[in-house]
Amino acid sequence: MIMEPYRIKVVEPLVFPTREERRRALREAGHNLFALRSDQITIDLLTDSGTSAMSAEQWASLMRGDETYAGARSFDRFRAVVAELTSYPHVIPAHQGRAAESVLFSALLEPGQITLSNTHFDTTRANVELAGCEARDLPCAEAADLASDYPFKGNIHLEHLREVLGGPDGPRVAAVIMTITNNASGGQPVSMRNLRGVKDLCNRYRVPFFLDAARFAENAWLVTQREAGYSQVPPHDVAAEAFSLADGAIASLKKDGIANIGGLLALRDDDLAARCRNVLITQEGFPTYGGLAGRDLEALAQGLVEVTEPRYLEARASATAHLAALAADAGIPTVRPTGCHAVYLDAGAFLPHIPAYRYPAHSLGCALYLEAGVRSVELGSLTFGRPDPAGGPDLPAPRELLRLALPRRVYTRSHLDFVGEALRAVARDAARLPGYRIVDAPAVLRHFSARLEPVALDSGRKEAIVA
Ligand code: F0G
Repeated sequence: MIMEPYRIKVVEPLVFPTREERRRALREAGHNLFALRSDQITIDLLTDSGTSAMSAEQWASLMRGDETYAGARSFDRFRAVVAELTSYPHVIPAHQGRAAESVLFSALLEPGQITLSNTHFDTTRANVELAGCEARDLPCAEAADLASDYPFKGNIHLEHLREVLGGPDGPRVAAVIMTITNNASGGQPVSMRNLRGVKDLCNRYRVPFFLDAARFAENAWLVTQREAGYSQVPPHDVAAEAFSLADGAIASLKKDGIANIGGLLALRDDDLAARCRNVLITQEGFPTYGGLAGRDLEALAQGLVEVTEPRYLEARASATAHLAALAADAGIPTVRPTGCHAVYLDAGAFLPHIPAYRYPAHSLGCALYLEAGVRSVELGSLTFGRPDPAGGPDLPAPRELLRLALPRRVYTRSHLDFVGEALRAVARDAARLPGYRIVDAPAVLRHFSARLEPVALDSGRKEAIVA
């Protein structure tokens, strides 16, 4: 029997807006879930980032926070935990993942260079592009089939990697970045075998190899469950092996640090680390706090120890699998196989009457909020679609997904059952769900602040604005 390996000491009441209040809230938010306030949301599955529940030990460690500007004890504790886990001698804190990316890329990249990845997360891509470089994704072929049960769809395509490194663009490749788990492609894990393949190619072509390790413990857990030879290896040791293969890591610690804020840059190379520290001082702060309070470093050090506990990871994976099974019961296809941090609903397959340029995943997200106050996040053509330069409908994203992300240690099985009931209710009326039209949006990162309105779609795709 798998159950949560903790009991609850502090509770936070949920809020239950009425159906009419939800309808009004969504209208006032311009039908954009990012514009909702937390007091309008019953269950918030927008993200697993910075939303987790800290343990009693983490709360206790806050009081041990040493707020000394330089050389704080809390930094020593943080450094010791990270160095033990990663084997990297240089441990540089940052206030969150994207700050660590920005510091690394400012010190590492020259304009015109290329970074290669299984899939760059959006902020990673944006930081590469800000440095005047190209971020190129080389996902494995199996990643394209959302419904298959291939165990490591997060892998990089090793043959494509070899072709680029050995081809005409090879000399411009400044780094290979492996995102574990691969958030942008359904939270899928990367196998150790694939990481070893990347290491070998990076050694051969003398290219530095970094991990984007936001969910390193979840990746390690999935390796113990899916990769031959690892079923008896503790997740901590699997994670340590993954780090040992790379030359360094960037990480958002708002995920597997199980704390509300924090980021990390950890490196082997002395010279690169010195350059990063110089950038850090101008952007984040002195290298022993990097934009964080001493108490944050304490909570992170403790969270990084707790996150590799097998019972915790087993319960987390089992909760996510439970939610995926509830979606399947409701008849809603999900990205297979289910990972740890989220269930990704395949709205493109589920709502075939809504074309990509009318945002099927956004429609499903709005319906789930209207039904039960459950917030999710669109990862489809609203977020990743591009305006057509010729003025036609948007160029669609490759997939239309709605992510239900699970904060760590926050929601119980009955909360997930509540979400399951909401999914069933939404599914009953799926054929009648409207599309959406953008009324007003900024030129970049439109999904955060766009205002939209529903558009009814009849079978002939003749459209009418829904009041
Ligand atoms: N890398 C990955 C794989 C991420 O998932 C994220 C954040 C980041 C980097 C950036 O880290 O937010 O601390 O600056 N992902 C969040 C999410 C926002 O909802 O998936 P950050």
